[in-house]
Amino acid sequence: MKVLIVGGGGREHAIVRSLARSPRAPELLCTPGNAGIAADATCLEVAAEDVAGVVAACGKHEVDLAVVGPEAPLVEGLVDVLEAEGVAAFGPSREAARLEGSKLHSKELMAEAGVPTASHAVLRSRGEALEHVARSPYPAVLKADGLAAGKGVIICESEADAREAIEVFFVERRFGPTEVLLEEFLVGEELSLLALCDGENVLPLAPAQDYKRIGDGDEGPNTGGMGSYSPVPGFEADEVERFADEVHRPIVAAMKRRGTPFHGVLYAGLMLTADGPRVLEFNCRFGDPETQAVLPRTRTDLLDLCLASREPGGLSGAGADFSEDWAVSVVLASGGYPLTSSKGDVISGLEEAAAVEGVEITHAGTALNGSGEVITAGGRVLNVTGLGPTPAEARDRAYDAADRIHFDGAQMRTDIAERAVDRAAAR
Ligand code: AMP
Ligand code: GLY
Repeated sequence: MKVLIVGGGGREHAIVRSLARSPRAPELLCTPGNAGIAADATCLEVAAEDVAGVVAACGKHEVDLAVVGPEAPLVEGLVDVLEAEGVAAFGPSREAARLEGSKLHSKELMAEAGVPTASHAVLRSRGEALEHVARSPYPAVLKADGLAAGKGVIICESEADAREAIEVFFVERRFGPTEVLLEEFLVGEELSLLALCDGENVLPLAPAQDYKRIGDGDEGPNTGGMGSYSPVPGFEADEVERFADEVHRPIVAAMKRRGTPFHGVLYAGLMLTADGPRVLEFNCRFGDPETQAVLPRTRTDLLDLCLASREPGGLSGAGADFSEDWAVSVVLASGGYPLTSSKGDVISGLEEAAAVEGVEITHAGTALNGSGEVITAGGRVLNVTGLGPTPAEARDRAYDAADRIHFDGAQMRTDIAERAVDRAAAR
């Protein structure tokens, strides 16, 4: 069986590794992949966003299943086009992917399905926005409606901050012409709960937490994610099922009623407030870097689950089994990230790091230079994931390995999973 993975980041490398463990022993291809993925799959020079190129590659290589990693091609409708061409594809349709593609649409669905989320107002113009922010309590949150690569959220401590943010959205138009949501600021702990969906059934995966800020102690600007761990102490199977009942299942039921069933990974970013879980955002795909901590622990064949998710009701009776090990995944980012990213820096120590027991290294932004050396090629460069019987051991392994990797300007948080280690120790 030939499986093509669309994308070229750490998430896609983790998906490739997980599919490679399938008893079906699939032949793996990836568009475009990266220097690390090239060791595990045949990489084709086609951008993930190039819908026509991906479809052509699937035809040429007689691909049996395409697994789409990033949101942009899903929102563009890659899955619809592939399926129309007779290529089985894992991921939501264009219409279903609007759950991530438009925050307004997602708020509408949550209201319809009775799913708890922050209250919001819609700001359609600079004038309307200025009126609203004059009346809003603070802190408050401003969000671009459309896709913004995780960067379209601005937390405002005061009306002055909000007025500045309004310039970013409506004058500078950093996120293009977009409507903006003014959202209630929620307080609590964040949890990422990913679930596989077949249009009807919801199969939650192990919960994870990610670290969005660049610096230790959650200082500095937001990034795509600087680390993650799974599972999360205090959120066992009962809580996970309860969150799936309150959040994922009502949304999947509402989408089925609307005739836009959701197939693929439904990722709920939750804020666990004193009043219960509230949805911060939905994503229509595997999270990055949560996937790098969740999939190495998955014992159930991911390929079976992907195939089952495509069929309406295909996941009925399916379970997802996870190893007892903890996983802690640390991101190494390039110099300048997240404002810029330094490309072409030579990376050393990869082999020594990979030799550390219980460590899995996945590549995010890497390439090979003319001399065959692995170099940086993006903001997030590598994910170093440690597995171990306790959070502390998993974390020590990840950092032991990460410390052996060097490149100019490398950045890494030193507090990934500290919370889990402390909590596990307190129990
Ligand atoms: P999002 O892309 O919507 O997940 O937002 C990115 C990050 O901004 C979240 O992970 C939260 O840390 C923060 N955030 C978003 N919305 C809110 C909110 N309503 N209240 C508090 N923090 C928020
Ligand atoms: N970890 C956040 C995301 O994948 O969007």
